[in-house]
Formats: sequence, structure tokens, C-alpha cells
Amino acid sequence: MKSFAWSVLAAFALLASALAAKVPVSSLRNAKTPGNVVPNRFIIELSAPLGNTKRDGASRETHEVLYSQMRKRSVSFQVDREFNSPGLFVGASVTLKDANDRNEIASMPGVQAIHPVHLVAPPKPVVSHVVTGVNDAAVPADTESTHIITGVDKLHAQGITGKGIKVGIIDTGIDFTHPDLGGGIGPGFKIIGGFDFVGDAFNGSNTPVPDPSPLDQCNGHGTHVAGIIGANPGNAFNISGVAFDASLTSYRIFGCTGGTPTDIIVEALLRGVSDGQDILTMSLGGPDGWTEDSASVLSSRISDMGKIVTIAAGNDGADGMFFTSGPGNALDAISVASLDNTVIPLQNATVVGVQHDPVTYFDALPLPITQTLPIFATSTDTTVADDACDALPDSTPDLSKFIVIVRRGTCTFVQKLTNIAAKGGTVSLIYDNGSGFDDIDVGNFTSALIQADDGVFLVQQFAAGKNVSLSFPQSGASTQFPDPTGGLISTFTSYGPTNDMFFKPAVAAPGGNILSTFPVPLGSFAVLSGTSMATPFIAGVSALLFGLKGNSPAVGRGARDLFETTAQLVASSKTDGDPLQTVAQQGAGLVNAFQALTTNIIISPGELLTNDTANFVSLHNFKITNNGKTSESFKISHVPAGTALSLQTGTSFFNDGPVPLSTNFASIKFSETSLTVHPGQTQQITAHITAPTGVDPSLLPVFSGFIQVESATETFHVTYLGVASALKDAQVVDDTDAFFGVNLPVLTDPAGDFLTNATNFTFVGEDVPSLLMRLAFGTAQLRADLVDPSEKIATTLNKRGAPEELSFPSAAAGSAAAIKTVGSLFELDFQPRNTDENDGTEFNLFEFDTPTFANGSTIPNGSYKLLLRALKVTGDPTNEADFESWLSPVIGVQVPSS
Ligand SMILES: *[C@@H]1O[C@H](CO)[C@@H](O)[C@H](O)[C@H]1NC(C)=O
Ligand SMILES: *[C@@H]1O[C@H](CO)[C@@H](O)[C@H](O)[C@H]1NC(C)=O
Ligand SMILES: *[C@@H]1O[C@H](CO)[C@@H](O)[C@H](O)[C@H]1NC(C)=O
Ligand SMILES: *[C@@H]1O[C@H](CO)[C@@H](O)[C@H](O)[C@H]1NC(C)=O
Ligand SMILES: *[C@@H]1O[C@H](CO)[C@@H](O)[C@H](O)[C@H]1NC(C)=O
Ligand SMILES: *[C@@H]1O[C@H](CO)[C@@H](O)[C@H](O)[C@H]1NC(C)=O
Ligand SMILES: *[C@@H]1O[C@H](CO)[C@@H](O)[C@H](O)[C@H]1NC(C)=O
Ligand SMILES: *[C@@H]1O[C@H](CO)[C@@H](O)[C@H](O)[C@H]1NC(C)=O
Ligand SMILES: *[C@@H]1O[C@H](CO)[C@@H](O)[C@H](O)[C@H]1NC(C)=O
Repeated sequence: MKSFAWSVLAAFALLASALAAKVPVSSLRNAKTPGNVVPNRFIIELSAPLGNTKRDGASRETHEVLYSQMRKRSVSFQVDREFNSPGLFVGASVTLKDANDRNEIASMPGVQAIHPVHLVAPPKPVVSHVVTGVNDAAVPADTESTHIITGVDKLHAQGITGKGIKVGIIDTGIDFTHPDLGGGIGPGFKIIGGFDFVGDAFNGSNTPVPDPSPLDQCNGHGTHVAGIIGANPGNAFNISGVAFDASLTSYRIFGCTGGTPTDIIVEALLRGVSDGQDILTMSLGGPDGWTEDSASVLSSRISDMGKIVTIAAGNDGADGMFFTSGPGNALDAISVASLDNTVIPLQNATVVGVQHDPVTYFDALPLPITQTLPIFATSTDTTVADDACDALPDSTPDLSKFIVIVRRGTCTFVQKLTNIAAKGGTVSLIYDNGSGFDDIDVGNFTSALIQADDGVFLVQQFAAGKNVSLSFPQSGASTQFPDPTGGLISTFTSYGPTNDMFFKPAVAAPGGNILSTFPVPLGSFAVLSGTSMATPFIAGVSALLFGLKGNSPAVGRGARDLFETTAQLVASSKTDGDPLQTVAQQGAGLVNAFQALTTNIIISPGELLTNDTANFVSLHNFKITNNGKTSESFKISHVPAGTALSLQTGTSFFNDGPVPLSTNFASIKFSETSLTVHPGQTQQITAHITAPTGVDPSLLPVFSGFIQVESATETFHVTYLGVASALKDAQVVDDTDAFFGVNLPVLTDPAGDFLTNATNFTFVGEDVPSLLMRLAFGTAQLRADLVDPSEKIATTLNKRGAPEELSFPSAAAGSAAAIKTVGSLFELDFQPRNTDENDGTEFNLFEFDTPTFANGSTIPNGSYKLLLRALKVTGDPTNEADFESWLSPVIGVQVPSS
């Protein structure tokens, strides 16, 4: 985008080891930006009505006052959307010609906040498997198991089904033609209404084309989400939604493919409120780490109104601690973690001809084979590494009358199946080459994975000349395969806390291996995994809560505490003696819907946050209220969870998930360890929390656990969390050579040379500089300015030689503003950290493609240095000492006169 002073690019990383000194900038480019910022687009929030508010449509005038102020100050802009929900959110999303006008706008009277628009990636389930059409009379057990482990089955048995409660689903739309979702839309249907804000063709960057119908028959995510809340019982697959009598509304904000900008999320949330939804649920988000984004702020305010807002915690567990998703980190909303279902619904094949137990294959529904067919093994060697990776030998018989048994390994499954198909084979079972058992990609072919032992047995029988056949019962052969990780938090769940130590996720629900509805043209049912699947589960439980207790703001405001204090603690592994999972990933535990809705005991708050050691809050109170008819006695005790070691020893790099846990726990003293609370009474307990000792503060050890409150019949807990270090000590900007073989940050030219000395640029064609950098931790402020090369500035990162270290006066006394700069190149706030993945999220590349400052003014020809500054977490933006800084070699701006 040549019209902007700079553009931000992040791209495919090249691992340090593989990297020579040159990284052509073109190879670093792709469309991503840090935090997926949409260049030059902002959401402006206005405070109290501006201007003359007497007439009707006062807020409308508020907008006009803003625009005329902007025009008066020569801000060049275009209005994209207007928001007009007084008391909740009044403002507009705009495109600015010059991104730096944001500072001008921020200083205008009546402007409460201005935040960049982010692009939120499309929902991406972790495992995706479309069930292909055959009816099975037997019950696939998964959905039932998810209801049982959370007590939803017991609520259903009492007739609690969410009747009369309105749930708004902000997602990819819904296939409302699905018979198990009521087969229609409008009054009288389960799906009572909706709106499509974008249209099928929207991909996140083209123009949305709204229409009244939220029908989705191309993506499917929202239909799966809708089924988890509301699928009618008694369907062919014997699944039901958590709140199957609730009324659903579909707000479609994603097209068939691609992401969506946060201003559309804001618009959908406001629409949900004005439509009178009791609950709004969003199975979406992207890495953020901060709580300030517009969609997060608005979600939190809607929660404060007494509606329940449930938001996915994110599927970035592999990236380790402090990697929360926005808007899931909305302060007062409910961020939802995923728990792996205890069982996976799979199918059995029957072995005929020899005595053997049924063979379980990895498919939720039977393969559509009605004949009993003999087996054929493509190799009789049960250790062959590359079975059927090459064309099968001429001696191979016509395989069309066989079930082909083939070993996993070396080439893709589709490659093997293609070679088998070349010999007429149409049905194959692939046996694992180790201990794996999973859903595999078999393309169009009729095939599934079986376990290694079963495959070896079958091949040995074949090799021994036994007449072995297999049959695939079309009903009654579904089996509840115990999920080895069942009952644990799904490893993909994003870890909290937020960068400023807020507690995310709040609570967990089943989200791994979930069977639910899918658009009819895409197969009607699918098994998906993700926090996307856990989130609607909590929305469903919320509907049951409102249905039972009434949909009052008081019930809504108390919901998160209630779910948190009644949740079930989750272990970190199945190994005895391992600690409980850090609450930074499990939240307060697995939701216990039955206890939450039926208990007479109310405990609040649900979360005690000690913050970091520099801002430590040791003393916390919580209250126990007895709304029952009999006195209750309680015992108070401490149940710690594992202390999560965020960083790799000796580095500023985060550990990947699963994050290692230490058993150095916090300690807690209580004002009482036993007490009796009489009917109608409330009692307060004080807890004095001390951070763990024996942990290395440089690893950012996040400690957490539970204060257990136990009566004779029920167990509750209050969850605590803190970090045993001062976050201000944590490095924000990566200054190592670990990723690029050169110390970062670094300037590059388009040829990929790292610039280590003075370089002139003409800004003609590709003769422009770029800044390559990584954020090791999030930062609330990242800015680049040009400074006079003779300016003496004390920097903190990769200082090269003495001169600039000597005598900057401000380190002790000064503020950021005290540094004399020539002009700003960019300023970004609330940036997430980079990852160590090879997918474009592991670094930031800022290409300065025109010789202009961020405010659009021309950079005069001359010599400059680039000063990069990043505010440390918990740092004070007015104190220069709270920034990390780096100064570039001299950049000569030598634009030829024309
Ligand atoms: C559906 O599941 C319920 C609860 O497990 C069971 O009682 C019922 O028999 C199942 N229905 C069918 C058709 O299998
Ligand atoms: C979005 O669609 C438009 C056409 O409508 C196309 O030009 C653009 O490249 C697409 N963007 C992405 C990210 O797919
Ligand atoms: C399926 O097969 C497994 C393994 O042989 C067996 O344990 C299970 O009982 C079978 N279930 C059904 C429903 O056939
Ligand atoms: C199984 O095959 C896969 C794919 O070729 C390979 O990555 C893996 O190492 C193999 N496992 C064993 C135990 O041989
Ligand atoms: C699936 O099969 C159809 C024809 O049966 C073929 O056109 C298509 O390319 C196949 N797709 C894949 C992914 O193999
Ligand atoms: C193999 O078993 C099948 C099914 O049990 C039977 O139909 C077939 O005749 C048998 N073939 C031989 C060669 O025994
Ligand atoms: C922790 O302290 C910092 C610095 O005062 C503050 O910004 C942040 O909001 C605090 N976090 C919590 C959870 O209180
Ligand atoms: C400037 O940098 C280039 C490439 O890094 C190098 O070849 C050259 O010797 C350097 N010049 C000086 C004066 O250091
Ligand atoms: C940059 O251009 C200026 C002006 O032409 C010249 O004095 C200076 O030597 C050049 N610097 C480099 C490193 O080429």
C-alpha cells in the first residue's frame, strides 16, 4: 500500500540454523500484521453526547460533532460504520488517510478511546471430521458423555431445558434448514431470527454485502455451535443440545472463507443487545493478550449489564503462557477452555473366519460397507515402512472384492489409497505404525485408521493363509473408545493469564471430539474439536441457569462466580502425583452445571488475583452465603495447582505448551478453617496468599490453585492466580540471533542484507529500508521514531559501541516525550507477543515504503537513526526507563529531486 507511510508485514520465518545472512524481504512478506491490525482503520468511542442534545436523535448529532471536529483539524477520513447504543457504545469505525491522525483524534473533546481495527481469523476447529450419512440406531456416546460429566443430563431429567431464553450466536451463520435445528427460521422456529452482516463472498478484505438471512451452507462452524446449544433430541444420532428449548438467533459475521474485522463484531454485539438476547456467544478470536480492544471492552460492558457473554479462550495452547485471545479476554465475560471428552465415539468391525475381538476403527459412523469381504494385505511384513507408497506389483489381484489392510508410514494416506484404487481396491483399513489412533485424512476414499495390534493380527492371519473376512455392522457397533486424554484440558486451549494478570480462561467445558449438527449440504453432522465447541456449551448452561432462576441482570452478573465456584478441578495428566493443571489453562475447572444450578450456597468472588510481585495483593476476602433452610458447616483448605514455568531457562522465550509445571506452590493462611453459616446468613473469610519460594523469578512462574470450601454434601472453591516475579523485569523485545542468525532488531534492505552501518535510501522502487523485529512479550506501546544521528540516547538493547550510551539525560529523570525526535514512523498499542511458529506469527517486519512520517508529512532528505521503543509490561508510559529501546545505524534519506 504505497499511499501509507509504512506497512506492517509479518511472514514465514526461516529458522536461524537454516538462515544465511540474507533474507530477501519478499520472502518475509505475507498479509499478516502484528495483532492482525487492519492498516489505517480505527474504532472511535465517544463519551457523553457531544453538542446540542435537546432534539431527538441526539447521538446522531454526537457523530456529526465528531466528524466536524475531524474536518476542522484536516483529518482525512471515511466513516465505515456507526455505533449508536447510548450507555453501551457510541462511536464509529473509520478509515484514516494517515494513521497517525489517531493521536489528533484521541485528543479531541468527547473522544473516550480510539483503537485499531483487527482482523479476527475465521474459526478453525482443531480436528474436523464430517460424518458421512449412514444412520446408526445406536447412540454415539460422546454427546451423552459430555452431558453426564457436567451434570446437564440430570438437569434435563428435571425438565430444565432453557425454554424461553434467547441466545445470540455470533459466528459463520447457521444452516437453519437442518431438521434437527428446527428446519426453518423466524417466529415459532428454534432459530427465531438473525442477520447476515457480510454475505457469502466476504473474506475479511473485500466489501461486506449484508442481507437478512444468516444461512450458512458453505462453512459449517456456526451450525455445529448451534447444535451444541440447541439440537433437538430424538434425532438420528441421539444427540441433544445443552439447552435444546432455548431460542436461537444467528448473527453471521464471517463469509464462507476468511476473517472478519472487529468493527463488525462490535456491530453484531450491539445488534444482539438491541434484539434482547439474554446470552451472546462467540466462538472466535485471535491472539491478543490485552483487555483493551474494542470488542473485548464492549463484551465486558454487555456482561456488566447482566447478560451472559461466553467467548472462546482460543486454540493457541501450543504457544504457551500469556497468550490469551481477544475478545475472549474481555474482563467480565466468560472465557471458555476446552476439556477433552472422556470417550470418542467410534465404530467396530466384526472379524469373521477366526476368533477375534471386534476391530475398532476411527470413524464416528460405520463405513458404508454392507458385504462381508475377505482381507488382503498389501504387504505381509508388519514392519514395512513404506507400505503401498509405490504402485502395487502386477501380481496384485483385483482388489475390488477385498478389504485391503495397509500399514501407515512414509507417504500420505491418500497416496497409499490411490495405489490401492489403481488395483480396484475401494475399502481399506490403515493400521498404525506405532501407538497412534486418530482421525486421518483419507480424501475421498472409504478408509479409516485401526490400531497397530489389530493390523498386525490381521496381516499375520492373511500371511498364514487363513480365510479372514471383515464386516461393518451398520448399527449397534458404535463403541465408546476411552480417550487417553479424556477428562484433561485439551492441549490446544490457550493459556492465560492476560499480560496484566487477569484470569483467563474462566471455566472449562467439553470441546474435544464433539459430535454436533453440520450444514445439510456438508453432511448434516460432524465431529469437531476446539474451544469453539466448549464455548456454546457454557452458553447452553447459561440458558439453563436463566431458564431456572429467571433472566434477571442479577442472575447474569452472578453467573461466572457461580460456574467458577462450583466447577470440578482438572488434573494436569493421568499420572498419579502430578499436580492439578494450572488455572491459567483450566480456569476454575470443568463446569458442574447441576451443582451450579441446584446449590443453595453462593460463594463470591470466584477469582482472587494477587498480580505480580511488584503489585502484589496478598490479602483477599471472599463470602459464603447460605440461601438454604438449614445451617451448613464448611471446612476451608488450600488445594494448589501446578506452578507454570512460563519461560525457557536463561532466555526470554516462552515454553511451548504443554507448559512445564513445578510443585513449588503458594501458601495460604485463612482467618478461619472451619465455620458454620446459618440460613440467610453471609460470612466472610480472609485469605493471606504468599507466593511460592524456590521458583526462579526469571522464568515468570505463574502460581495458582484453589481455596476449597467443603460442606458435608458439596464442594466449592475460590480460584487464585499470580506470578512470582515482577513483570516489568521480563524482556519485551527479542534481542537475540536465535531466529535470524543476527541480533534483532535489525534493519534490512529489500535484498535481505542486514544493515550494520550507515546506508542511504532513495525510496525509488524497492530502495527502501525495513525493520525486522520480534516481540518476546506483549507490549502496551511499540513506537518507532526518527532521531538526529548526533542525539545521544541511552538504549537498552544490542548497543553497538560507546557513543550513544554515554549521556542521555532522561533515563533517570526524563519521560518518553523528553527524547528529541524528528518524527514518528509508527506507534502501535497493545501488541501481542510473537510466537515461535513457522506460520507468519513469529516476527514483525515493518517496511518503510515511502519517505513519510506517520502523519503523512515528508521526511526531509538527511541522515537519521531509527529509535525503536517498547513499553515493558506494567511499565509507566510516561517513564522512559520503563521502555526497552534500540537505535539503528544511520539511515540516509536521499530522495532524488524530480
Ligand atoms: C438415546 O440415549 C438415551 C440416553 O442414553 C438412551 O436412553 C436412548 O435409548 C437412546 N436412544 C436411542 C434411539 O438409542
Ligand atoms: C477477497 O476477495 C476479493 C474479491 O472479492 C479478492 O480480490 C481478494 O484477494 C480476496 N482476499 C483474500 C484475503 O482472499
Ligand atoms: C468394540 O470393540 C472393542 C475392542 O474389541 C470391544 O472392547 C468393545 O466391546 C466393542 N464394542 C461393541 C459395541 O462392539
Ligand atoms: C509412522 O509413520 C509416520 C509417517 O510416515 C512417521 O512420521 C513416523 O515416524 C512413523 N512411526 C514409526 C513408529 O515408525
Ligand atoms: C473425489 O472424487 C471425485 C470424483 O469421484 C474427484 O473428482 C475429486 O477430485 C476427488 N477429490 C479428492 C480430494 O480426491
Ligand atoms: C472364506 O470365508 C467366507 C466367509 O466366511 C466364505 O464365504 C468363503 O467361502 C471362504 N472361502 C474359503 C476359500 O474358505
Ligand atoms: C496488576 O498491576 C498492574 C500495574 O499496576 C495493573 O495495570 C494491572 O491491572 C494489575 N492486574 C490485576 C489483575 O489487578
Ligand atoms: C558496511 O556494511 C557492509 C555490509 O554489511 C560491509 O560490507 C561494509 O564493509 C561496511 N562498511 C563499513 C565502513 O563498516
Ligand atoms: C549518503 O549520501 C550522502 C549525501 O549524498 C553522502 O554524503 C554520504 O556519504 C552517503 N552515505 C553513504 C553511507 O553512502
